[in-house]
Amino acid sequence: MTRAEELENRLKLLVNFGGSVSKETNLNRLLELIAEQVKTILVCDRCSVFIMDRQTNELWSKVTLGLQHTEIRVPFGKGIVGHVASSGLTLNIQDAYQDDRFTHDIDRLTGYRTRSILAVPLKNVSGHIIGVFEAMNKVGGPFNVDDEGILQLISSLAASGIENAQLYESLSKSQLETIYRLAVTAEYRDQQDTAIHLRHISEYSALIAQGLGLPEREVENIRYASPLHDIGKVGIADAILLKPGKLTPEEFEEMKKHTVYGAKILCNAESTLLQVACKVAGSHHERFDGTGYPARLKAEQIPIYARIVSVADVFDALCAQRVYKPKWDPQKAREYIMEENGKAFDPNVVQAFDRVFGDILKMHALGDGKSTIIPGIHREMNRHNF
Ligand code: C2E
Ligand code: SIN
Ligand code: SIN
Ligand code: FE
Repeated sequence: MTRAEELENRLKLLVNFGGSVSKETNLNRLLELIAEQVKTILVCDRCSVFIMDRQTNELWSKVTLGLQHTEIRVPFGKGIVGHVASSGLTLNIQDAYQDDRFTHDIDRLTGYRTRSILAVPLKNVSGHIIGVFEAMNKVGGPFNVDDEGILQLISSLAASGIENAQLYESLSKSQLETIYRLAVTAEYRDQQDTAIHLRHISEYSALIAQGLGLPEREVENIRYASPLHDIGKVGIADAILLKPGKLTPEEFEEMKKHTVYGAKILCNAESTLLQVACKVAGSHHERFDGTGYPARLKAEQIPIYARIVSVADVFDALCAQRVYKPKWDPQKAREYIMEENGKAFDPNVVQAFDRVFGDILKMHALGDGKSTIIPGIHREMNRHNF
């Protein structure tokens, strides 16, 4: 390949890179994607992206050791990576082992033999250093000046994607916590294991959404918005909500208002998540055949989020004990969902429910253990590494 051909080839890869990086909002997957692409574009053996942690004054990166993912940390100012972060300058090193700034710890840990290193700072739009990009072991010799330019360009393309993903991550965690607390407030009156119940609704809804093939972003929206579906129960009097027996028709009319109250509480929110939650709260008791409440919406008039949560909610309500009913066996609950196919529920949603039923059953079995509300929150938040 001539130099011109090589540059043109790289340009194509770069255009591609810009496109895929702007779509990924999950930070870990984004970092993996970037590392993969850098390896291809620069024709090198390895690429690590180190992210600044301002709280600890360290740079962290994920490494894969066999099947395990580990996080490695380098103090700011230490090693090649730390030098680049503190100076803001690119380092192009032919032989790392001849450079006394190089720290051998990571090679020792991974069993990898680093030779050439090209490390550039990762700067955000306002020029602040948010991390370091490190490419290692160029195939067929050390990195050249073209490589430096390319990695700097990649770094500036990647920086905004990384910052977005970080923002999305912190936003989602604080939103999730708020949502959880709101949802718990609404449900602790009429249910014993609120945390488990909310977690089930959340997981079942997300599984069904996945089964339907909805995009990841929508799956996550449903996962986090679904626990708020009954928030409107805060407006229902104890005498009705906690009545041990069957409700009178008048009482049930009052009970139905929990959908309207819920939508009112959540509507006009800025956040996408709360907008989804508003639709779910308002429409989760609509029926596919148009005989539900509060608005008698029919089929596609019912927001897809609500059609999904409706199945998750009824399945979970049937499997749980309530003041007014004993719990059902999950297989019997499943049969009930099937019977209501096309009546209460969207056939596509029922089909997706059936497809992921094995996973739903696993979640259901898991929930039988006791848990308290607050540790539940933290467990959830850690598990969903946004
Ligand atoms: P929930 O207990 O969370 O139940 C949610 C939905 O699951 C119900 O919506 C219903 O579609 C389904 N479901 C729950 N248990 C059964 C059951 O034993 N058989 C059948 N076929 N479906 C069941 P629905 O009916 O619109 O009720 C909404 C909410 O109203 C319920 O939420 C509950 O809080 C309250 N509610 C409904 N019926 C009674 C009742 O007889 N007594 C009391 N105290 N509350 C009731
Ligand atoms: C260093 O920064 O000195 C080593 C980094 C690495 O091996 O990835
Ligand atoms: C929730 O359970 O309410 C959301 C967290 C999760 O299980 O993904
Ligand atoms: Fe409800």
